[in-house]
Amino acid sequence: MFEELLRDWDGEQAVIRYDRESGAWMFVCIHSTALGPAGGGTRMRVYPRPGDGLADAMRLSHAMTQKMAAADVGRGGGKAVLAVPELPQGEARHGLLHRYGELVASLGGTYRTAGDMNISPADLDVVAERCEWVYGTTGRGGDSGRGTARGVLHGIRASVEHVFGSADLAGRTVLVQGVGAVGDDLARALAEDGAHVFVADVDERRAAATGFEVVAAGDALATECDVFAPCAVGGVLSADSIPQLRCRVVAGSANNQLAESDDALRLHERGILYAPDYVVNAGGVIQLIGLEDLGWDEAALERGLAGIGDTLRGLYRDADAAAITPAEAAERLVERRLASGRRDSSGRRTT
Ligand code: NAI
Repeated sequence: MFEELLRDWDGEQAVIRYDRESGAWMFVCIHSTALGPAGGGTRMRVYPRPGDGLADAMRLSHAMTQKMAAADVGRGGGKAVLAVPELPQGEARHGLLHRYGELVASLGGTYRTAGDMNISPADLDVVAERCEWVYGTTGRGGDSGRGTARGVLHGIRASVEHVFGSADLAGRTVLVQGVGAVGDDLARALAEDGAHVFVADVDERRAAATGFEVVAAGDALATECDVFAPCAVGGVLSADSIPQLRCRVVAGSANNQLAESDDALRLHERGILYAPDYVVNAGGVIQLIGLEDLGWDEAALERGLAGIGDTLRGLYRDADAAAITPAEAAERLVERRLASGRRDSSGRRTT
């Protein structure tokens, strides 16, 4: 399985290490360094087979290349997966994170990590004891969820403006699917803007704790609203689910929202404006790079996050002008940026 995955992948480099002490497989996938060192989070998960973890890292690293290029932050795309037999705790977790830090350090900054599923800022503190290429530790950029939520808010404002002629969210109905780190912050920010917020979560207690009107998780897709904000899992937009939607805009933080690329066209044909996921959910990387590398204060960060709205406005204009979907316009933007940043083997830009 590894051979096939590696042969068919269009990324630059996959680094694989088997960690005998824990039985974990470490996969670091560097998809592209055309625009700078590869950045992307580390995910810890139990997979049916190690190869599923490698496939996940490959797929996610490609999405990071798109996200970094669209956000124009001078970074390439990468992703790491720790495919563990079970989620380790205590000393075993500490040891695994140290050995993982040594692996990332050995790459000399070509890959720079942050958190993802099951990797918290406190875990990153442990990785950072062995490696300098770590973002989102407790003392520095912190949890990227807040920047992601704020970026999605700007994306929703821009999308609502495109559809309804005004970015004002007062009185608009928004359904937030998944009220974890991102969805919870987003729901509150939307309410502060005057939106009427519904929430849905498979964890019903978590949904109830938000204090917003709760919709059963199974009814989320078919609930009538102006904006559907998927902030839970990927693959929610598919040939099956799109006909059920009763919204005008889809804009949320979840990665890989489209089950397949044709779903962008399905949404378009239903008159639903889709904010491409990797554009609208880039607030976390903007937060970490802005605060940790660029020395931004909170005001500069807010300006950086507002740039997500500006990028979407540009994409919607381009899409309308070329009679294509916003997803296609985003892909063209990424291609343009990658082409202009490509370097030859001596590191010089080739264009
Ligand atoms: P989280 O794990 O804190 O929250 C996810 C929430 O979704 C949980 O409350 C969970 O119970 C709920 N959920 C899971 N499956 C569901 C379903 N089928 N229907 C309804 N609710 C469901 O995750 P977080 O950090 O809030 O991220 C949310 C999404 O945004 C994820 O897809 C993540 O990959 C993506 N994302 C997060 C970023 C970040 O900075 N945290 C950055 C970019 C993307």
